Amino acid sequence: MNRKILITGGAGFIGSHVIRRFVGKYPGYQVVNADKLTYAGNLENLADIDSSPNYVFEKCDIVDKQAVAGLFAKYGFDGVIHLAAESHVDRSITAPDEFVLTNVVGTLNLLNAAREAWKDGYEGKLFYHVSTDEVYGSLGADGFFTEDTAYDPRSPYSASKAGSDHMVMAWHHTFGLPVVISNCSNNYGPNQFPEKLIPLVINNIKHSAPLPVYGKGENIRDWLYVEDHAAAIDTLFHHGKSGETYNVGGNNEWKNIDLIRLLCRIMDRKLNRTEGTSEKLISFVKDRPGHDMRYAIDSSKLQKELGWSPIPDFAVGLEKTVDWYLSNAAWLERVISGEYGQYYDMMYGNR
Ligand code: NAD
Ligand code: TYD
Repeated sequence: MNRKILITGGAGFIGSHVIRRFVGKYPGYQVVNADKLTYAGNLENLADIDSSPNYVFEKCDIVDKQAVAGLFAKYGFDGVIHLAAESHVDRSITAPDEFVLTNVVGTLNLLNAAREAWKDGYEGKLFYHVSTDEVYGSLGADGFFTEDTAYDPRSPYSASKAGSDHMVMAWHHTFGLPVVISNCSNNYGPNQFPEKLIPLVINNIKHSAPLPVYGKGENIRDWLYVEDHAAAIDTLFHHGKSGETYNVGGNNEWKNIDLIRLLCRIMDRKLNRTEGTSEKLISFVKDRPGHDMRYAIDSSKLQKELGWSPIPDFAVGLEKTVDWYLSNAAWLERVISGEYGQYYDMMYGNR
């Protein structure tokens, strides 16, 4: 089957894995990657597929509504997978405006453009919005987020994603736009920007720099390998029911401090350092304001209805991730040069 699909944010971490999967698996699809190339967007992530005949890159800021409408007019998309976003909680605390612009206004522009482009009929069309479990807020020691959990976002990032989810659903109920939303837990894997916990810890251990642990390190996150998320997005784009939301998670909860200690042990082994060397780098720092305590996802709807499941072995995924960062030193050095250096100094003090 031939389709023309718009994937936004395809130069980022998750988007690049989604693009690679779609371009390789669906040669009959024309895949258009629209990305502004912010600090987090990196076309190097797609160097292996960028000359594929079914792949096109368009530099586009989704906040620019004319540019977004122009893309729809140029390509005649029948599907959208929307991943472009400002995605880092800490940045949303220091500079929230960009989050509202990209995550809320950018999503509005895409919804309006899809509605206009598909005004002659919605048959065969889909607007798929990729979102986060952070919209549900914070859990105590027990329980899981289900698709029925009330939204309770607490950071500017999660509030902006919640706003975009609500608009996507409003466009479905009010205008009939065919939509699917997924809310996923924390991803990890190759190509993640090193402001996020796992690549930050790997990079700092490599450079024997302090490992900043917020608060007591007792916050809990559910970690999912990025390719499992890309597989879920593939399943949901093709088989998700319009008007529905689906939770995606790894069933893999880790206290931050335990995860950091595990990474220290893996890195000591990989770098031939004496066991215990990297743990000495752990440094407890001031907690993140409004730091959500625990995220845990119940993804049984997606598993039972559509047969998706995560790869169970975290140890394998983590080893693969560490190996990728160690053997892609040039990628890492390039992304941490420039703007990231200033951000890091602002967040954690001079290195
Ligand atoms: P990322 O920060 O690595 O990449 C975001 C991409 O969006 C970058 O390529 C950036 O250039 C692009 N972008 C930002 N602003 C833009 C704009 N105005 N116009 C066009 N492009 C723009 O993010 P990620 O971790 O890959 O997350 C992708 C999506 O998945 C986001 O919507 C995020 O909310 C969601 N999500 C992420 C996680 C996670 O753990 N990383 C978990 C659940 C959901
Ligand atoms: P992060 O990767 O920023 O993802 P999110 O905030 O979206 O869950 O952070 C994961 C967890 O690690 C979160 O509880 C905050 C914590 N953390 C630290 O302790 N130190 C750090 O330097 C960072 C970036 C995160």
